[in-house]
Amino acid sequence: MKLKTLGTSDLKASVIGIGTWAIAGDYWGESDDAESVKAIQAGIDFGINLIDTAPAYGDGYSEELVGKAIKGRRDGLIIATKVGILRDGQEFINCLKPESIYKEIDNSLRRLGVDCIDLYQIHWPDPATPFEDTMPALIKLYEQGKFRCLGVSNFSEEQIEQVSKYLKIVSQQLSYSILERETEKSMLPYCIKKGMGIITYGSLGAGVLSGKYKKDHQFKAGDRRKEFYPYFENDRFDCIQELLKTLRMIAEKYGKPVSHVAINWVWKHEGVTSALVGVRNRQQAEENAKAGYWELSMEEMDLIDNAYQKYILKGE
Ligand SMILES: NC(=O)c1ccc[n+]([C@@H]2O[C@H](COP(=O)([O-])OP(=O)(O)OC[C@H]3O[C@@H](n4cnc5c(N)ncnc54)[C@H](OP(=O)(O)O)[C@@H]3O)[C@@H](O)[C@H]2O)c1
Repeated sequence: MKLKTLGTSDLKASVIGIGTWAIAGDYWGESDDAESVKAIQAGIDFGINLIDTAPAYGDGYSEELVGKAIKGRRDGLIIATKVGILRDGQEFINCLKPESIYKEIDNSLRRLGVDCIDLYQIHWPDPATPFEDTMPALIKLYEQGKFRCLGVSNFSEEQIEQVSKYLKIVSQQLSYSILERETEKSMLPYCIKKGMGIITYGSLGAGVLSGKYKKDHQFKAGDRRKEFYPYFENDRFDCIQELLKTLRMIAEKYGKPVSHVAINWVWKHEGVTSALVGVRNRQQAEENAKAGYWELSMEEMDLIDNAYQKYILKGE
């Protein structure tokens, strides 16, 4: 498995990380807990060391499952969780107030069954709480040894500048894939210049870049991914099918699944440390991990970019 250093930290992360939102049993429909635990363990067995979770996923349930999966296997893993989004039923509530942060971290440590979180990420900024209030609380927890490194997620450059005055920020987590290119405009060069690592989500376009979905696919009850990933709408979906022809051609050349081409395109980029890929079962975790053992050539990266320009940009 290829590893990259996470920003200016001393952590070396696998270029593919396990995403654990879908296994939390909410927003992605029902999931099978035993299979979810096996999926995480299979990813670890195949060389993945970065596991990303958050209290917001299933109101702590994803962290509990991660805790079960890593019991007895903690060594060498980078356990990444988040702070700042509380749940009220199906609602997500931004909260970075100090009292809330102190409670959140202790709950995360307990659910994960660890003494220290390797990468603690501010999930989203909280417009109602100034960083002057939030950051001293995080510094206190850092000094108490409750987390090793601080990262952010979904932050603007200006917000990163503000929080960096208090504590070193080693990474930014954001949406990035062949289909989601906003980040290339200025965030990617900014993070490279600042020496921060980027951890990507939606790397597989919520599954559409595996090529397995047919038009008008009806997701199971409770699977709401269409609400936050816009790839399944008719015209957009058709354009993605055109793009997938190029991915398929490259995948066939190597005898690999199409999903590998999509995942590898993400982590191959300078500045990207790890591509998170959400998993539901053992087979997906094993397959995704294997994408960290081979690389696309620069010519293939260009071919994919040309197909993106032709089919996706044109269709927007
Ligand atoms: N920081 C943030 O605000 C934020 C936001 C979103 C996500 N995240 C994190 O990033 C992780 C990854 O993003 P994501 O899960 O939203 O999207 P994603 O990784 O693009 O898509 C994950 C989905 O793709 C399907 N899949 C995975 N491997 C596959 C394979 N080999 N073949 C076919 N289908 C496969 C699975 O669903 P099906 O099998 O049901 O199709 C899986 O749930 C999350 O789990 C979470 O940890 C963070």
